[in-house]
Amino acid sequence: MNQYDLTQGGTIVAKQPTLDPARLPAHVAIIMDGNGRWAKRRFLPRVAGHKQGMENVKTITMAASHLGIKCLTLYAFSTENWKRPDSEVGYLMKLPVDFFNVFMPDLIKENVRVQVMGELDALPAATRQAAEAAMADTAKNTGMILNFALNYGGRDELVLATQQIAQAAAAGQLDPATIDASTVASHLMTAPLGKLADPDLLIRTSGEERISNFLLWQLAYSELVFTDLYWPDFTPAALEAAILEYQQRDRRFGGLNS
Ligand code: FPP
Repeated sequence: MNQYDLTQGGTIVAKQPTLDPARLPAHVAIIMDGNGRWAKRRFLPRVAGHKQGMENVKTITMAASHLGIKCLTLYAFSTENWKRPDSEVGYLMKLPVDFFNVFMPDLIKENVRVQVMGELDALPAATRQAAEAAMADTAKNTGMILNFALNYGGRDELVLATQQIAQAAAAGQLDPATIDASTVASHLMTAPLGKLADPDLLIRTSGEERISNFLLWQLAYSELVFTDLYWPDFTPAALEAAILEYQQRDRRFGGLNS
């Protein structure tokens, strides 16, 4: 019996399909939503939801790495999240510091390489330093990339890329006629991910079905899976269920099936 068999009174009544290891999504991106509602449901302050959300980042990072996912991108703080009360923003800015302080030995043991993308210069110094130290300390690791989007916004990213490309053209370093999709991709914050830049699977928790300014260019052909679970309740089994749903999709990238 495996963990996917459905049993009634000890008897296997149905077999659920198991994951096909040959067709895993290489890059999984997650919009970790619902921390606030998770806390509210328990009569706890919103930050308690973020704390539990951070704990779950550890669980899901390990689960994704063990499954063989090559890149896990997590939307930790958007360029719009500054609109929240100062106390909540302050708490969210401390989370990466706590996370890397506590979890770095496990990340190193697991051979995980940390990337952080976003407008890092606008972060509080301690947050930025924690992110930079995590990237430096894991730079040589060859396992799963754990890519945090921190002070990240898809529109901002495209504006910055456009500015860089326009500046190169104005300086005569780039012929505008040669600008193509790969030029744009090479100026995006996901460029360091190379071939893994575009997520195969995007998961959003908490029942909301929006992209919320996340990876606007890179999600062009991603499969989207939405779950009603709040992020702190999103388990490794829920991750596997989302991947199973992904494996049942027919990805055509605008073409036809052979
Ligand atoms: C959205 O839920 C969640 C966030 C804005 C923050 C996500 C951050 C974490 C899960 C922790 C990050 C951890 C590290 C290590 C950086 P919400 O607050 O919008 O929830 P709600 O929609 O229920 O109010």
